[in-house]
Amino acid sequence: MTLTRVVLLGPPGAGKGTQAKQIIDKLCLVHLSTGDILRDEVSRETELGMTAKGVMDRGELVPDRLIIDMIRGRIEEAAESGFLLDGFPRTTAQAEALSEFATIDVVLNITLPREEVIRRLTGRRVCRGCGKIYNLTFNLAEGETTCAACGGELYQRNDDEMEVIANRYDVYEKSTAPLIEFYEELGILRALDGSLGSERVFSEIIDILTA
Ligand code: AP5
Repeated sequence: MTLTRVVLLGPPGAGKGTQAKQIIDKLCLVHLSTGDILRDEVSRETELGMTAKGVMDRGELVPDRLIIDMIRGRIEEAAESGFLLDGFPRTTAQAEALSEFATIDVVLNITLPREEVIRRLTGRRVCRGCGKIYNLTFNLAEGETTCAACGGELYQRNDDEMEVIANRYDVYEKSTAPLIEFYEELGILRALDGSLGSERVFSEIIDILTA
């Protein structure tokens, strides 16, 4: 039986977005990334986007109530087909709210040490067209500015500046890491070593989800 109501947990840069794109292709789940949804709100200059922009650029968390209101309907809509939550929940209040409107089958916790987080995120580039994620250290030539998949422009996220990355990691440790214990106590947490190659992590995830 395939597990279809899945949460991806882990520090910034652990590889959640990278894995999410492959998992949804393989298992036909709906990808719900709060970071991607917020960045879209920012680019469309909506009221939520205007509120979120400064918070995101500093590497802080957008207030729980705004996030829960933003994501709740999307999760309820995807419940039947199955969903992959990427970046939500991120606080105990968000996890408690989630438990009131959805049942989660498994939480995949991808771990990565702080120094590797910083190394990866300073080298990350993202395609404006299709969202494909690259890294200068292993799959992007220096000076390359277009996406190999769709020809879109590659850009560096505003929050991938060194000081902001360090703050995001601190915020993760303070506000999000406590969810590891929260889900361990529910017996649905599975750990993955994010420092392994992306293909190895993906294969371990598929084993867990389809066991
Ligand atoms: P969000 O977009 O969710 O960012 P994040 O959680 O900080 O995660 P990232 O997207 O930075 O990292 P990732 O784990 O997806 O890594 P990736 O696959 O790209 O959130 C952004 C902001 O939005 C937050 O700071 C907050 O302000 C706000 N927000 C979002 N959700 C919120 C919520 N629920 N509540 C409140 N606020 C919220 O990989 C990173 C790099 O490593 C890439 O270059 C990739 O190519 C490379 N890589 C990946 N895997 C491997 C591997 N196995 N080996 C080597 N390199 C790898």
